[in-house]
Parts: sequence; structure tokens; C-alpha cells
Amino acid sequence: MDKPYQAMPDIAILPSHFPVPGAGFLAVNAFVIKAKEPVLIDTGMGIDSEEFMKALESVIDPLDLKWVWLTHDDADHTGNLQKILEAAPSARLAAYSLAVLRMSTAWPVPMDRVYWLNPGDSINVGDRKLTAVRPPLFDNPTTIAVFDDKSEGFFSADCFGAIIPSPAQSADDVSEGDLAQGMAEWASLDNPWVHMVKPSDFSQALDRIRQITPKIILSGHLPPATGKTKQFLELFETVPHSTPAIAPNQAALEQILAQMRGED
Ligand SMILES: [Fe+2]
Ligand SMILES: [Fe+2]
Repeated sequence: MDKPYQAMPDIAILPSHFPVPGAGFLAVNAFVIKAKEPVLIDTGMGIDSEEFMKALESVIDPLDLKWVWLTHDDADHTGNLQKILEAAPSARLAAYSLAVLRMSTAWPVPMDRVYWLNPGDSINVGDRKLTAVRPPLFDNPTTIAVFDDKSEGFFSADCFGAIIPSPAQSADDVSEGDLAQGMAEWASLDNPWVHMVKPSDFSQALDRIRQITPKIILSGHLPPATGKTKQFLELFETVPHSTPAIAPNQAALEQILAQMRGED
């Protein structure tokens, strides 16, 4: 877990990073929107547990949280959800129905605190409207990214993620080449279906984000990126045509293990 910082005066980032052997680092971000009704977006990784709760408490008293918005039910987003719902008894859980039902197979999700959202649905959190958006790339059918109409920030779930050479607090701190390469590779690896769709259909999904024109992209897996939406969408236009990414195989794992043992 890294030190929390402000992306904007009313948006805090609870950052962590996950080392990807042989490739670099993947940011794993959760966010606090200090709205009139404060919102936590995603709940970090279970491995960070105590540290995540401390980071959250350094930004907001969990008793003040009114909403926990879950972008999808992958483990790097749900890691501390159960703990947070206990620490934040006033908070409702905004999530996609299937995410809640799937999590209910592992632990008793308090259904009376749940608020089901489909893409296009919104919640009003006092000083702004948060709208559920299906991002152009998603690795899980329960994905509801968030557009905040006050900050004009797009909390894009896994979309716009990138494995980068070292952790950073801003996408501006990553070289353009590393950013483009890392984002294109992550897009292909995390969303293999992107190579099976008609590029023109994918382009329409990108146009929907162009219409929203977010000022800042707040991805779960990238440092905050201000003023880069156009550039990122142009990069995404190329992804369906690119060579599909190939995940490391056993030979690669053995090489990584040998390096870790200092044999190389
Ligand atoms: Fe995911
Ligand atoms: Fe993720």
C-alpha cells in the first residue's frame, strides 16, 4: 500500500501497486469522493488488509461513508469490502446485481444495504450525480465504471490500466512510450475478446466515452491521467487490429523463479 494522495481537492486516491514479475508494476487504486454523501470506490486488495483500512481512515472516518461503489467483483477490487461494510454502517453498497449474487456465495452480503445499478443508472450523492457506465474494455460482466458529473472524472474500473516500469502518482510521470505500450498490452491481455469484435463496433463504444469527454481518467490500474482521454481513445482504436498479447508460460515462470533465486 502506498501513501494516499489527492487527485483533485475532493477526490483522494488510496493507491497500492502489484509487482508483475518480469513486466513492471500494476497500480491498484481505490478512491474516496468527498461528496456531500461520501463515496468509496472499490476496496483494494485483501493482501493489504490492515494497511488499506489505515489508509482509508487517514482520508475519511469510515462512519461518514454513505456509499461503497463496487466497479466489479474481481478480487483486486473487493479485497476489503466485508471489513469496510462493518466499519461503515451508514454506507450502502452500490453494485451490479450479478456481482452481489456472486459474492454472496463466499460471504453473507447484507442485501438490505445493497443498491443495484445497471449501466445508465445514476445515484445522487448530494452535490453530484454518479452514473454507471460500461467502459469500452472490461474483464468482468459485472463492471460498472463511474462518471462523476461534478469533477468530470471517469472512474474507469480496469479500463485504461497499464503495467508501467515503476509506481507513479500521475500518468504524466510515465514516459509516453511506456504508457502507450503498457496500456495496449494490458488492453489485449485483460480483454482478449477485443480481438474478436468488429473494430467499427468497438469504435462506437469509444465514441460513447468521447461524448462524455472526461477531464480525468481515474483507472483502477493507472495513476490518474488528466487531459489524456483523447490520446488514450486513439490508442484503443488500434487494439483490435494488434497482435493478441500472450501471457507468460511455464518456461517464463521457471526463468522468473531462477532470477528470484539469483541464478541468473
Ligand atoms: Fe477486473
Ligand atoms: Fe482490476
